[in-house]
Amino acid sequence: MEQHRIGQDVQGRFITFEGGEGAGKTTQIKRLKSYLEDRGHKTIVTREPGGSPGAEKIREMLLSGAARDLGPRGEAMLFAAARADHVDHTILPALERGEWVLCDRFADSTRVYQGEAGVDPAYLDLLETAAVAGVRPDLTILIDVPPEIGLQRVNSRAAETASGGPDRFEADDLKVHERRRVLFLELARSHPQRFAVIDGRQDADKVTGDIRKAVEAHFALEIGEGAHGPRD
Ligand SMILES: Nc1ncnc2c1ncn2[C@@H]1O[C@H](COP(=O)(O)OP(=O)(O)OP(=O)(O)O)[C@@H](O)[C@H]1O
Ligand SMILES: [Mg+2]
Repeated sequence: MEQHRIGQDVQGRFITFEGGEGAGKTTQIKRLKSYLEDRGHKTIVTREPGGSPGAEKIREMLLSGAARDLGPRGEAMLFAAARADHVDHTILPALERGEWVLCDRFADSTRVYQGEAGVDPAYLDLLETAAVAGVRPDLTILIDVPPEIGLQRVNSRAAETASGGPDRFEADDLKVHERRRVLFLELARSHPQRFAVIDGRQDADKVTGDIRKAVEAHFALEIGEGAHGPRD
């Protein structure tokens, strides 16, 4: 099922970023976007839940906790509904235009977060198949950090930006975050061709370097030097 897409004429490249809270996903996605654009590749950054107008409305319900009463299975359905809208309106059109799509969380986050919450993996597979409509990542960058480090980063970011308290999923117990970390690593182990696991405990520049190497290795000759030559 991996790297399978609707149609044969889809020229773009689809990279997802996964990992726990505060792993560095958003930071690193921005850096990879500049890197690819400097090499002449049109690149969009998007995120889940959300990434399209319809899905952003569902994001609000999910992250505020308003959907919590639906239970993990209902939440999983909302994630799938948001993902379907995001694929249809943002991801697939960009891939069809030949662009690189960098997505902050995707279906693996549902497998991990709703799987950890007790939803049957077979049920999650069905929802995923329906939601992604054949659009699957070419490469998934898993930024791995122990949750106590990630949560500490998120807390200091919140203090700096006055962005309010933790969201619905950040607020879970440390044990829950630890189980999610293990599930992400297990997923990576069971899909070794698609995943690159990056040590997110390193300083941000080192993480950036490791991600570049993983992307260059995965897409071999496709990156090139572009008009501007390599940065830093
Ligand atoms: N390698 C790193 N070392 C130290 N701090 C980092 C590193 N990477 C990112 N940070 C800082 O940690 C905080 C969290 O980073 P970022 O927002 O990129 O993580 P995230 O994985 O997107 O988090 P979230 O799951 O909350 O969206 C930010 O304040 C960021 O500047
Ligand atoms: Mg983020």
